Amino acid sequence: MPSQLIDKFNRKITYVRLSVTDRCDFRCVYCMGDKMTFLPRVQLLTLEELEWLGCAFIELGVTKIRITGGEPLIRTNILRLFQGLGKLKGLKELVLTTNASQLVKMAQPLKEAGVKRINISLDTLKAARFQKMTRTDKLEKVLRGIDAAIQAGFKRIKINAVVLKNRNHDEVIDLVRFAVDKGIDISFIEEMPLGEIGEHDRAEAFYASTQIRQDIETSFTLLPSLETTAGPSRYYKVIGTETRVGFISPHSHNFCDSCNRVRVTTDGLMLLCLGQEHSVDLRRIIRANPGNLIPLKQAIVNAMAFKPKSHEFDFDEQPKILRYMNVTGG
Ligand code: 5AD
Ligand code: SF4
Repeated sequence: MPSQLIDKFNRKITYVRLSVTDRCDFRCVYCMGDKMTFLPRVQLLTLEELEWLGCAFIELGVTKIRITGGEPLIRTNILRLFQGLGKLKGLKELVLTTNASQLVKMAQPLKEAGVKRINISLDTLKAARFQKMTRTDKLEKVLRGIDAAIQAGFKRIKINAVVLKNRNHDEVIDLVRFAVDKGIDISFIEEMPLGEIGEHDRAEAFYASTQIRQDIETSFTLLPSLETTAGPSRYYKVIGTETRVGFISPHSHNFCDSCNRVRVTTDGLMLLCLGQEHSVDLRRIIRANPGNLIPLKQAIVNAMAFKPKSHEFDFDEQPKILRYMNVTGG
């Protein structure tokens, strides 16, 4: 059994994203349709199974786990998972993606459980737009949640903003100013063609990262950051501030060469690429081998042979990937 996962393109897999629920208290228009059906509970990995999976990945050289969803913090007793994973030796970074709706009460316990960083989804600072984009009215709660995370002492909190033309594209400067004022980071994301959403035409809503950058540069000076994360983001420092601005542009930038990650869906499918269907059913293997980590580790190792070289998003056609982001793990 190898101590480091490595795929056939020689990429080291050190990062796993675990989706712990497909449910969410929001219905963001780019993520979900308005009529969603969620998975029956028996299909979800239990909290124990999720922790077990964490152990297997860590023994295979994974050093970073991101808990995502859906909205991870609405899953019952989810704090137990953070507390369990937080204790595992070998895990250097336990991190979270959340919509912040539960952070007022959960930021402090998450910090105590060992969560290192939090990414928060926020696309607009205007209540009426927030209502349109998330189909909820929880902007105030989200803003208080962000403050609670800052209060709890989290460093390098990052806002993730999906930018849609004629929805929120005119707000990118205000969002950067918000991040600067709070002393946190922000990334702008182009919408990816995942799942049938129906609500808007994705081609029409496309607003390119290069355009966003130009808009921001009318008010701020951006200095390309030398640091390279293995992730899809390109980072810039906002001169004279603590804030970094990132751009995730699946349309214009193929970030697959340095891919270091796999994902596990809410129902236990390991996805080898966000933009492809290649997957392995880890839930079946876990349930067939209770208490035995070896078959699980072996299945993960074997799957490395099938990790695709790159995603093949086709932005002009109907989405090829019918999974929604909430199952995949945003
Ligand atoms: N394209 C890009 N980002 C998406 N997210 C959800 N659906 C999409 C999509 N189709 C993002 C959210 C959030 C994270 C959970 O995933 O904005 O930041
Ligand atoms: Fe929920 Fe995040 Fe999807 Fe919005 S993008 S509906 S907050 S899972």
